[in-house]
Amino acid sequence: MSLIFTTGGAGFIGSSTEEKLLTLGYDVITIDNLDSYYDIKLKEANLKKVQDKADKLGRKFTFIRGDIRDKDLITKIYQENDIDATIAWAALAGVRPSITDPQSYVDVNIGGLMNILEALRNSAKRKLVFISSSSVYGNNKNIPFKESDIVDRPISPYAATKKSGELLCHTYHHLFDIDVHCLRYFTVYGPRQRPDLAINKFTRLMLEGEKIPMFGDGETARDYTYIDDIVDGTIRSMEYLLSHDKVYDIFNLGSDHPIKLIEMIQTIADVLKVEPKIERLPMQAGDVDLTYSDISHAKEVLGYDPKTSFKEGIERFVAWYKQDE
Ligand SMILES: NC(=O)c1ccc[n+]([C@@H]2O[C@H](COP(=O)([O-])OP(=O)(O)OC[C@H]3O[C@@H](n4cnc5c(N)ncnc54)[C@H](O)[C@@H]3O)[C@@H](O)[C@H]2O)c1
Repeated sequence: MSLIFTTGGAGFIGSSTEEKLLTLGYDVITIDNLDSYYDIKLKEANLKKVQDKADKLGRKFTFIRGDIRDKDLITKIYQENDIDATIAWAALAGVRPSITDPQSYVDVNIGGLMNILEALRNSAKRKLVFISSSSVYGNNKNIPFKESDIVDRPISPYAATKKSGELLCHTYHHLFDIDVHCLRYFTVYGPRQRPDLAINKFTRLMLEGEKIPMFGDGETARDYTYIDDIVDGTIRSMEYLLSHDKVYDIFNLGSDHPIKLIEMIQTIADVLKVEPKIERLPMQAGDVDLTYSDISHAKEVLGYDPKTSFKEGIERFVAWYKQDE
């Protein structure tokens, strides 16, 4: 069976996808530096769940604690393992912190990706799923957002690094025959969601009876995508690459159902059966007004078909939160 190399596999989306990969019969090696952006105990718990799944299924899961900025280490991993495909999640992933520390975002999200691309350039099997973001659309006025829209107006350093990643991937595809899919994820939520992301944070604040900081008038909207749908889309993309050559493509992975901020807060409150206390604050720099995905390309090429409604997803998130946190 195929061996998949992943980066950032201790995180929210990486660990969830790895469990599914193991279930499908793949072996997995991941590198993660357990960056302290949020509590590393959460990442250790994610890794334990993946390892338990591997043990139960009799599959191989190898965790390497290391940094994608370490070029020698990345080169060695590719030299010592017969890697069939790579999924690159490792990144500094917060939009707002990228404004205070842009250099680190460039070093990890662009510099780290370069090490992966350079190692792939010298590999026999050159298949890469690069995880990009809906942030590349900035305040795009074409609604819903299509992969063919011009996205050269990012509004945060984070978004600029993701767009740069897509450009480097295309360059390496063109020059060195690396098959690449760039996946633009639209706000992902569900069990294990990062504690810095709004749904997780608001759930905690509501349960503690604290105020919810609402930036703007509540009319901004996000195309929230449930974790199981993202896992499904990502694996479909990887399997497409395993069976096709000469590929470079970009896909939106969203739900195509934007939810207003005020509606998101009310849905969580309804599920928790609490009355939310809202504190209105000005819009934050770097935040976009709306994300809205056109997912027809992913549907057509990958058979991607997100199934989880927002209400259902929030119910599942809250059930996990109450049991696991
Ligand atoms: N969560 C979302 O809504 C969302 C939306 C769009 C795109 N994405 C992208 O999806 C990917 C995964 O996001 P997530 O929400 O699971 O975040 P996460 O922070 O839970 O996972 C990222 C992982 O990368 C690791 N990492 C960071 N720097 C590293 C380095 N230098 N070397 C090795 N590992 C490093 C971190 O320790 C972490 O475990 C990221 O690339 C993110 O930009 C996420």
